[in-house]
Amino acid sequence: MKSHTNNYIAKSHTGQSKIINGFSKLTKEEKLNKISSFLQNSNESVQEFKSFWHTNKKIQKRIDEFSENTISNYYFPYGIAPNVVINGKSYLVPMTIEESSVVAAASKSAKYWAARGGFHAKVISVSKIGQVHFIYNGNVEKLYEAFPRIKSALIERAKPITANMEERGGGIQDIELVDKTDDMEGYFQLKATFNTVDSMGANFINSCLEEFAAGLQKYFDEHDVFEPHEKDIQIIMSILSNYTPECLVECWVECDIEELASEDLGMGAEPFAEKFEKAVKIAQIDTCRATTHNKGIFNGIDAVALATGNDFRAIEAAGHTYAARTGKYQSLSEVTIKDGKFRYSLKLPLALGTVGGLTTLHPLVKKSLELLDNPKAEELMMITATMGLANNFGAIKSLVTSGIQKGHMKMHLLNILNTFDATDEEKKQAIEYFKNIKVSYANVSDFLTALRKNQ
Ligand code: MEV
Repeated sequence: MKSHTNNYIAKSHTGQSKIINGFSKLTKEEKLNKISSFLQNSNESVQEFKSFWHTNKKIQKRIDEFSENTISNYYFPYGIAPNVVINGKSYLVPMTIEESSVVAAASKSAKYWAARGGFHAKVISVSKIGQVHFIYNGNVEKLYEAFPRIKSALIERAKPITANMEERGGGIQDIELVDKTDDMEGYFQLKATFNTVDSMGANFINSCLEEFAAGLQKYFDEHDVFEPHEKDIQIIMSILSNYTPECLVECWVECDIEELASEDLGMGAEPFAEKFEKAVKIAQIDTCRATTHNKGIFNGIDAVALATGNDFRAIEAAGHTYAARTGKYQSLSEVTIKDGKFRYSLKLPLALGTVGGLTTLHPLVKKSLELLDNPKAEELMMITATMGLANNFGAIKSLVTSGIQKGHMKMHLLNILNTFDATDEEKKQAIEYFKNIKVSYANVSDFLTALRKNQ
C-alpha cells in the first residue's frame, strides 16, 4: 500500500529515501556506510568519518555509548585559561569551545584581575528541585490534612534510593504540597528539594520523584479517608526542574577605581569605569542587549561545563530563567561604583557535578578535573561562574574601548587563513602583516593572492 506521506519523504541525491527503518539496529559500520551513501563521495565520506575515530578501541566504544546511532566523533578545541586566581588560589582552567577569542578573552581578564587581587567567589546555596505534577479533584482540606502522613510515607518509600546519598551528606531536604488549582482545575504538585552533594543528581532526583508518584498513588488507594471518587488522582509526570534558584553561586572582582588603569584602555581609569557602568546598565534596561551580554557570560560558563562533563543545556536554561526572575530578562552581572571602589559581580544558579555522569568515563573530563585539583561541586561552581565573569568583563572592556572586532578578528585570522588552506609559512607572514592592519576576509584574500603571486 502506498503511504500517503510518500510525497513528502526527503530523497538523497541518488534518489534514495531518507527514511531508514531499523537504523538503530545496524552495526556502527553499517550505519556509517548507510549514512555515507547519502553523501556525494560515499567512499571518501566513510574514510573521513572514520579518520575521527579514536585509535584506542576501548575509549572509542565508551564514547560511542555516551549517545546513540554514533558514527564518528565531533572535535572541539580544548584550551586552557591560565592565571585564574579565585579566593587566593590559582587555577589552570580547561575550556572546550569552538568560538575564537573566548579562551583569549578569559585568559586576558584572568591576568588583568590576578594583578588586582584576583576573583572572589562564594556558594550561596545548593538545593535542587523536583516536581510530581498531579490532578486531584477531591476535598482539598482532606488532602492537606493527610499530607504530613503522605510525606513521611514517601520519604520512607524512597529510602533504598536515598541511603547512599545520605551517607555522602545529601538526600531529600523537604517535600511540599503546592496547590496550583488557580492555574488549572485540580492541579497540584509535590515540590521536593534535594541536596545531591557532588553529583549533578538528575538520575537521583528523577528516581526519587517516580518513587514519590507511585507512593502517592498507593496512599490514596489504601487509605479510607478519601472517598472512592477522591482516590482517582491522576499522576501527570514526575521530573526534576532545571531551574535551580537555590543552587546559587556568586563571584566578583573589586578594586579602587584608579587601579583599573591599564595601557590598553586608551582612556583614564575613571572614564573607563563610568563607561563600563553604563554598558552594564544598558544590559539591565534593554532585553536585546541583555541577551548578548548574557551570551558572553555563557561563553565562559559553557566552555568549562563542557570540559568538565557537565550539562551545559541545563545550566543555560537555569541561567536564562534566573535572568528573567523579575519578570523582565536582564543582565546576570551587576556593577557598583561607590566611594571610589569598582565592584563587578555575577550571581547565577549553577547545578554542577564532579562525580557521576561523564566524570569518570570521558578521558578528557577526568583530566580537566585533575587539572582543577579534583574539586568538589561547590568549588567547581565558583570556578565556572568566575570564567563567566572573566569573559563578560573582557567583552565589556573591549566593547567600551577598542570595540570587539579588533581583538576578535585577530583571533579569527587563523580561521580565515585556513579557509584559504594557508601554509604555516603563509600564516606566519600573515600574522606579522596583520599586526597593524585591519583583519577582514577581503584583506586576507588580497594578502595571500599577492604573497602567492610573488612566490
Ligand atoms: C561574543 O561571543 C560575545 C559578545 O557578543 C558578548 C557581549 O557582547 O557582551 C562579545
